[in-house]
Amino acid sequence: MPGDRKTDSAAVTGRSCEEAPMILVVMGVSGCGKSTVGQLLAQRLGWSFKEGDELHPAVNVAKMHSGTPLTDADRWPWLQKIAEQMDAWRNTGRSGLITCSALAGRYRDFLRAGRPEVHFLYLKGEKSLIAQRLTARTGHFMPPGLLDSQFVALEPPTSEEPVIEADIAVPLQEMVQQIERRLRL
Ligand SMILES: Nc1ncnc2c1ncn2[C@@H]1O[C@H](COP(=O)(O)OP(=O)(O)OP(=O)(O)O)[C@@H](O)[C@H]1O
Ligand SMILES: [Mg+2]
Repeated sequence: MPGDRKTDSAAVTGRSCEEAPMILVVMGVSGCGKSTVGQLLAQRLGWSFKEGDELHPAVNVAKMHSGTPLTDADRWPWLQKIAEQMDAWRNTGRSGLITCSALAGRYRDFLRAGRPEVHFLYLKGEKSLIAQRLTARTGHFMPPGLLDSQFVALEPPTSEEPVIEADIAVPLQEMVQQIERRLRL
């Protein structure tokens, strides 16, 4: 479905979330903090919030439960649902945050094509820190391969993409304040 990666420059600065609606796709590997940071930011900004994972078709959920990795063919209908949620916000002039790992550049290109309101909030961190947090979250030892495969799949957003990077080693409240300041530039 998607074509070649775009290389058009799209800086984050110059937009004001008070002037025009903005949509942030909160992205990064499993355990980087998408749900936690996304919910907190949405609360503070008064924006809509959606867990992207809730938009997976039932067939994908069944696959994930059985431990079968999703393919691109499985992901496009899901990404289409995410795009539809973003379009619903756009059409009503609302700002929103949606979580979506969006690890591959081609997924991000698809999500933002024709949607100038869309920016990516990339939660960036060391694998060891994320592994610690995932272990603490579940209370179980995490299969090391799971996080490894996420990092293999991760194509970090480039400066050609409309991206805000946040360092997940920063304490949560401080991190969210920093992001808010970036948004208000
Ligand atoms: N800045 C932070 N400082 C400390 N702990 C954090 C921070 N951000 C997230 N956490 C913790 O890290 C864990 C993982 O966060 P979270 O569940 O939000 O990640 P996620 O990216 O949504 O993961 P998944 O992709 O599996 O849904 C949670 O236990 C959360 O409380
Ligand atoms: Mg989550």
